[in-house]
Amino acid sequence: MKILVTGGAGFIGSHTLVELAAAGQETVVIDNLCNSNRKSLERVAELTGREIPFYEVDTRDREGLNHIMEAHRFDACIHFAGLKAVGESVEKPWEYYENNIGGTLTLLDVMRQHGCKNIIFSSSATVYGNPAIIPITEECPKGHCTNPYGQTKSMLEEIMMDVQKADNEWNIVLLRYFNPVGAHPSGRIGENPNGIPNNLMPYVTQVAVGKRPELGVFGNDYPTPDGTGIRDYIHVVDLARGHVAALQAIERHCGCAIYNLGTGQGYSVLQLVKAFEKVNGIKIPYSIKPRRAGDIATCYSDPAKSEKELGWKAQYGLEEMCRDAWNWQRQNPNGY
Ligand code: NAD
Ligand code: UFG
Repeated sequence: MKILVTGGAGFIGSHTLVELAAAGQETVVIDNLCNSNRKSLERVAELTGREIPFYEVDTRDREGLNHIMEAHRFDACIHFAGLKAVGESVEKPWEYYENNIGGTLTLLDVMRQHGCKNIIFSSSATVYGNPAIIPITEECPKGHCTNPYGQTKSMLEEIMMDVQKADNEWNIVLLRYFNPVGAHPSGRIGENPNGIPNNLMPYVTQVAVGKRPELGVFGNDYPTPDGTGIRDYIHVVDLARGHVAALQAIERHCGCAIYNLGTGQGYSVLQLVKAFEKVNGIKIPYSIKPRRAGDIATCYSDPAKSEKELGWKAQYGLEEMCRDAWNWQRQNPNGY
């Protein structure tokens, strides 16, 4: 297949390019580089032994998208491009709605005008809100999103389902990611946050490399065994392979399909910190801080549907996630 990958220079996109290449798929990338660096694509070329055509284009740029769709005939699009910082989305809601929703609407319109009606979309476990059932199956009702970022994911899911309902030539796969962490085992590509990391694992690796003095643990009074929040961390290489598997759903004309991509195993903040220390032999100083607004106690997936229908199952555990996250940070202390 020939696949348009939006946001391909980013964290999950770059890892997915490597796995798509290994599966023999052809890719073309668009990215406006607002949260990434073209070096990631150079590293992908180095890992895969092939150059991937790249266009520095924004998903809101209709002319730019038209030009690319005229130059290539795509079988499907994997749509990663979007803004993703929860806190920033509370400060800049308009920018999040305009970029994420505006960009996706333009992309969908240009795709259908060029007869490409197959898309895999990066959604998030955040759409479950404070989940009604644990472990979370795809049937779990969607919940209340506490921030504009989460709202864009939830709204885009609804928009795409409506588009598919009205025109059943569309095949739409909504992938709900749990907590992607780690990096390619080579240490050549990885997560490259701007400024102070919002997420746990990159914060831990920046403490490990000496860029930050200690980790703040946001709350130890949750109703969990050690009081800290529990999440379903998933190795980014497993997550990337989930996209390769999701292409099968497109091939069998799934209509609209929703899959959780998680391991099914929850770990607390302190369990992750302990695992990181043990695997890498580095002490991570931390102190307990107040709860972070909008956080929930426990969130982990039931990944059975993805295994049954896509034949996909996460292979890596917490040890490999900690090892590879550190391997990347250690080799690239300042990112790309
Ligand atoms: P990332 O920021 O590393 O990658 C997103 C890429 O999209 C970046 O390269 C950025 O430059 C690009 N981009 C943003 N807006 C664009 C636009 N309008 N036009 C073109 N390019 C644009 O983030 P990531 O972690 O790789 O996430 C990829 C997708 O997965 C996002 O949609 C994100 O919301 C979603 N997701 C991520 C997580 C996570 O924890 N990382 C969890 C759930 C869902
Ligand atoms: N945490 C800390 N200290 C930190 C950062 C995080 O204690 O410095 C804790 C949080 O309170 C939470 C856990 O670590 O209990 C995980 O937090 P993250 O910020 O890494 O991840 P979240 O589960 O809050 O959210 C992430 C993405 C969302 C995505 C969601 C999917 O940021 O975009 O996973 O489940 F929607």
